[in-house]
Amino acid sequence: MVAAMASIADHSGLRPWRVIALRGDARKRLGRALAKANGTRAEKGIAKACRAPLVLTVVVSPHKTKKIPLWEQEAVASGVAHSLGLLLHEAGWGSMWRTGAPARSKVMRRALGLGKREYLLGWIYVGGIPDRDRKSKPRKPLDLSRHLTEL
Ligand SMILES: Cc1cc2nc3c(=O)[nH]c(=O)nc-3n(C[C@H](O)[C@H](O)[C@H](O)COP(=O)(O)O)c2cc1C
Repeated sequence: MVAAMASIADHSGLRPWRVIALRGDARKRLGRALAKANGTRAEKGIAKACRAPLVLTVVVSPHKTKKIPLWEQEAVASGVAHSLGLLLHEAGWGSMWRTGAPARSKVMRRALGLGKREYLLGWIYVGGIPDRDRKSKPRKPLDLSRHLTEL
C-alpha cells in the first residue's frame, strides 16, 4: 500500500514524506513518549499506543526548495495519510488517524528519530474492525449545495 503512494499528487515529485511503522514492542516507545509529553504514567501511554496492532506514523519530510512551498509538501503527506486510510478500508482493515498535542513535542520527535525539518501529521492506528463498529451508522451524506458550487 505504501508503494501505491508513488502515484499520489506530488508537485515536482519530491516525495516529501515517510511512514514509520510501529508494531509489537516498538509501540511501547510511542506509548512512553505519549505519557512523557502528557505528564501521565507510562502505563497509560503504553495502553494508548497498543490499542491497535499496527501504528503508522505519518511524517512530513520537507525538501528545502523555494519552488514548492511547505504547505504543498504537507498536502502531499496528508494525501498519503488519507489514501492509506482508504486503501486499508478497501482491504477490510479498520483505521483511525489520530493526533494530539504530543505529536509535535520534543519528546516525541526524539522518540521517533525525526530529522530537524521533519514533523508529524499523526498516527494511523490499524487493526480489525470490531462487530460494534461494523453496525455503526454510515456518515451523513454531504450537503452538495455547500460543497460543490459553480462559478
Ligand atoms: C489530521 C487528523 C487528526 C485526527 N485526530 C484524531 C484524534 O486525535 N482523535 C480522534 O478521535 N479522531 C481524530 N481524527 C478523526 C478520525 O481519524 C476519524 O476520522 C473519526 O474518528 C471518524 O471515523 P469514522 O468515520 O471511521 O467513524 C483525526 C482526523 C484527522 C484528519
